[in-house]
Amino acid sequence: MDIEKEQKARKVAIWVIGLMTAIWVVLSVFSFTDTKDRVRPRTENITFEGVTALKGKQVFQAYSCMDCHTIVGNGAYFAPDLTKIYEKTGPAWLKAYLGSPGTYPTKAIVDIQLKQMLSKGQQLPADINTYLEEFPGAKERVEDRGGIKALMPNLQFSAEEIDALIAYFIYTGKINTAGWPPRVIADPEVVADQARKLEERSGIFRFMSPSAANTSQSADNSAATAASPAILGAQVAKQYACTACHSADGSKVVGPTFKGLYGTTVPLADGTTAIADDAYLAQSILEPNAHVVKGYQQGVMPSFKGTISDDQVSALIAYIKSLK
Ligand code: HEC
Ligand code: HEC
Repeated sequence: MDIEKEQKARKVAIWVIGLMTAIWVVLSVFSFTDTKDRVRPRTENITFEGVTALKGKQVFQAYSCMDCHTIVGNGAYFAPDLTKIYEKTGPAWLKAYLGSPGTYPTKAIVDIQLKQMLSKGQQLPADINTYLEEFPGAKERVEDRGGIKALMPNLQFSAEEIDALIAYFIYTGKINTAGWPPRVIADPEVVADQARKLEERSGIFRFMSPSAANTSQSADNSAATAASPAILGAQVAKQYACTACHSADGSKVVGPTFKGLYGTTVPLADGTTAIADDAYLAQSILEPNAHVVKGYQQGVMPSFKGTISDDQVSALIAYIKSLK
């Protein structure tokens, strides 16, 4: 009896082990086929004019490009990231640039490189204008910097080294960067708002106050001078709570909306009309009771005379103007 039981148990054990082995074999096979499907770019497999990206990687390392540049954010932040440079500029611009990094290539020079590549049978757009359309980064660089002295040292590469570097940039362009670099989407109003909050806390008004921006002391402050008057005006409108009574989207709050106001003919309570030009807007802000808009109450809007500066009034007008 006992022997029979033992034999049975042994059989079951053999079956279980057999089954587990089978599962292990099947899963192993699957794990191999899976990696075979995922094609990863490899420096050995990517070439440009017969030179591999592997060679390019070696050139890149030999010249210490990373001492100034980054690839996917690794390296030094002295010069631009080069991960996607091939996609942006294409081989003809790169060849022209790396051949004479002392100056940025002009359209004519890129054209010469393109013609040479085409004659070698490369699959590229047949003429320079189509090329520049396909590689907008090259177009931008030719138009903005063509013929201008570049900061990069002329490392005097050989023709083979240049081809190798181009192959390497084809490779880096294929790296899955998982969305890197992150794109910062900054709403100018949000930026201005944060700047204002920081200024309030610090007590140093540079960005916000347009009148302060005009004094010689802050003449070096590019943020204040660069910020558009309309953005500053939007800030002033928030700061003085104009927005509590005036909307920017056409809706009626306590007072008339600012949207589309500039330049229109405003019907007034006394039966006359006024053109909403700079002078009218300035007066409406400083002496709201001088004209009262038809359908609204006199005395609701406070006078801002003496409270806000002339520059702030100009900024507010620029802001209202911008709300078409
Ligand atoms: C000493 C610093 C330095 C080194 C080393 C250096 N570069 Fe540059 N590179 C720059 C600077 C600075 C710029 C951008 C400014 C300019 O050229 O006017 C630049 C620009 C470039 C550009 C154009 C980028 C663009 O967006 O227009 C490429 C391509 C480039 N370098 C490739 C290389 C390669 C490849 C190497 C190595 C073989 C290398 N660089 C080594 C400083 C350097
Ligand atoms: C308490 C509510 C209130 C506040 C705050 C307020 N306003 Fe007004 N505003 C009104 C009312 C009501 C009118 C319409 C009656 C009038 O013309 O006085 C008006 C009229 C105006 C007009 C004329 C509009 C038109 O359609 O012709 C302008 C321009 C204006 N305000 C700008 C501003 C600015 C800029 C600020 C902030 C610095 C501001 N207002 C703050 C209530 C307000």
